Amino acid sequence: MSRPIQIAPSVLPADFSRLGEEVAALEAAGVDLIQWDVMDGQFVPNLTFGPDIIASARSHTSVPFEAHLMVNAPDAMAEQYIAAGCSRLIVHAEACPHLHRTLGNINELGANAAVALNPATPVSAIAHVLNLVDLVLVMTVNPGFGGQAYIPTMEPKIAEVRAMIDAAGLSDTVDLEVDGGIGPSTIAGAASAGANVLIAGSALYRDPEGLEHAVTDLRSRAEEAFA
Ligand code: DX5
Repeated sequence: MSRPIQIAPSVLPADFSRLGEEVAALEAAGVDLIQWDVMDGQFVPNLTFGPDIIASARSHTSVPFEAHLMVNAPDAMAEQYIAAGCSRLIVHAEACPHLHRTLGNINELGANAAVALNPATPVSAIAHVLNLVDLVLVMTVNPGFGGQAYIPTMEPKIAEVRAMIDAAGLSDTVDLEVDGGIGPSTIAGAASAGANVLIAGSALYRDPEGLEHAVTDLRSRAEEAFA
C-alpha cells in the first residue's frame, strides 16, 4: 500500500502581513501540511523566511510544518527551524557535500529528514540515503520563485524515484513530493508518475472559488490519477 495523497501549500503567495491568519485559513481549507520555502539568496536568488517568522505562525494552526531549505548551509540552521516548529526539514542534495551526515543529523535532532532534487540532478544522488528520509522531493521547476511553469520532462524522473522507493520496500514509509507549477492542468501528470505529496502555491491562491475549492479540486484530481 502506497502512502495517501497529500495536498500542501507553499505559503510564498500568502499575505506576509497576516501569516497567522493565512495559516489558519489553509488549515480550514483542508491542507495536510504547510511548506515554508526557506531561501537564503545564495542557493537560490531569493530571500524568504527565517525561523522566527515560522515560529510566529506556529501557534495559529495545528497542521504540520515542513521547511524546504533552499539554502547553502542547512546543517548550520537545522536546529533553529526545528525549534521554530518544523517537523520535517527538506535539504537539497546539491547543497550538501555530506548529505548522508546531514540527513542523519536531522533525524538525531528529532525531526523527519527529506531530500530534494533540482531538475538537472540525477536520481542516483539519493540512491544511498533513502533509508534516512521519510520523503523525496522532485522539483518540477528550478527553485527560487513561485508562479513558474511546470517542467513536464520531470515526469519520467518522478517515476524513477517512485520505482526506487518501491524497489527498496519503502512504499509505506517514504513519500514522493513534487513542487513547482502544480495546478489543475499539471497535477494528474505528476500523480500518475508516482507523486503522492503535491505542493501548490499559485494554483491555491489564484483559484477564484477560494482555497477550500482549490484544495478539494487538486486532491480529487490527484487521487483519480494516482489510483
Ligand atoms: C520554488 C518554490 C515554488 C513554490 C510553489 O522555489 O518552491 O515551487 O513552492 O510555487 P507554485 O506552486 O506557484 O509554482
